[in-house]
Amino acid sequence: MKTLLEKEKELFLPTYSRIPIEVERGEGVYLIDTKGERYLDFFSGLAVNALGYAHPKIVEAVCRQIGRFGHLSNNFITDVQVEFTEKLLKYSKMSRAFLANSGTEAIEGTIKLIRLKMGPEKKIYSLTNSFHGRTYGAMTLTAREKYQKGFEPLVPNVGHIEFNSLKDLEKKAGKDTAAIIFEFIQGEGGINEVSEEFIRKVVELRDRYGFIFVADAIQDGIGRSGKAFVHEYYGVEPDIIVTAKAIGGGLPLGAFLTTNSLKDVFTAGKHGTTFGGNPVSCAAGKVVLEEVFENGLLEKVLENGIYFRQELLKLKEEFPEAIKDVRGKGYMLGVELNFEASGIVKAMRDRRVLSNATNINVIRILPPLIATRADIDLYLSVLKDALKNK
Ligand SMILES: Cc1ncc(COP(=O)(O)O)c(C=O)c1O
Repeated sequence: MKTLLEKEKELFLPTYSRIPIEVERGEGVYLIDTKGERYLDFFSGLAVNALGYAHPKIVEAVCRQIGRFGHLSNNFITDVQVEFTEKLLKYSKMSRAFLANSGTEAIEGTIKLIRLKMGPEKKIYSLTNSFHGRTYGAMTLTAREKYQKGFEPLVPNVGHIEFNSLKDLEKKAGKDTAAIIFEFIQGEGGINEVSEEFIRKVVELRDRYGFIFVADAIQDGIGRSGKAFVHEYYGVEPDIIVTAKAIGGGLPLGAFLTTNSLKDVFTAGKHGTTFGGNPVSCAAGKVVLEEVFENGLLEKVLENGIYFRQELLKLKEEFPEAIKDVRGKGYMLGVELNFEASGIVKAMRDRRVLSNATNINVIRILPPLIATRADIDLYLSVLKDALKNK
């Protein structure tokens, strides 16, 4: 009989290199394979599964909602959409929301809003080494040859500013700028934190020239950094926050959130989606927001994240030839190695611990927000063994 991986090769376009584990089910921070092996999952479906797997409150909310109605179309407004969005706006301190299905789709809507408000001539800037998604607008913002090559022509009037370069920022941002968008912590790019100096300069230039400042918080938002959104660490206020991944509790959901000053840019019919803001996704998302912001998870992530980072820094001292840098905040951490990270990630997987290798040399650690000190200690001990046996 063919394995799933063998069948995969026959059935799908070859866009993914799949992890060779046949998953049976998930339970909390663990994934369980068809042989009953339990894997500590510090990968979290790439920052989606904030509450881990099969969280009882999500299971209950999803079952209840699908029993009422699974989909109604956005011709209707539903109680679940309203309840979810009230909480999302409250915890993000924003004024208006558009609900989409995914991160890339929320970015596309954001680009449309920027164009409509600022006109077609002005340029939208992102940062080098960024990742904003795979659809055309988002891919054009994603300033990496690996993702763009072969797909030209890309969307016009998009430019890139060198990551953390004040000089390049001052050179490019001005009266012809429509918007600047960045991830406060670059995820796919290797857990790179935008510097405080750079952030403050963007805000200063935004206030001078009136462009739109967008935070792509798709990966680092909804409590992952130990704050609701990373910009709170700096006390700055983006004009638009884009979010997705964790907000659907494992179901597809994305959103872009605006300040009051942008609330009238779109009029009826200017933007829309069939599935965006799906009621079942919103029901699950509401549970995520309650657990993270109302039931104490955020505070735990902040506290445990500091501990996790400190322990990784101790490993850096112990293995200076292997570890080049430790970066990130909360439960979004990166360990940059002096060599390709895939070997360590594989050695850890063989010990039933999962994380992700990104941008060649970086181990990207994205535990579910429910991960405890004990889970972190287990992760650290397996990482240490893998480094020792390298
Ligand atoms: C920062 C950031 N922006 C955008 C995206 C795209 O989101 P999606 O894969 O849901 O389209 C991602 C996905 O990894 C991301 O990390």
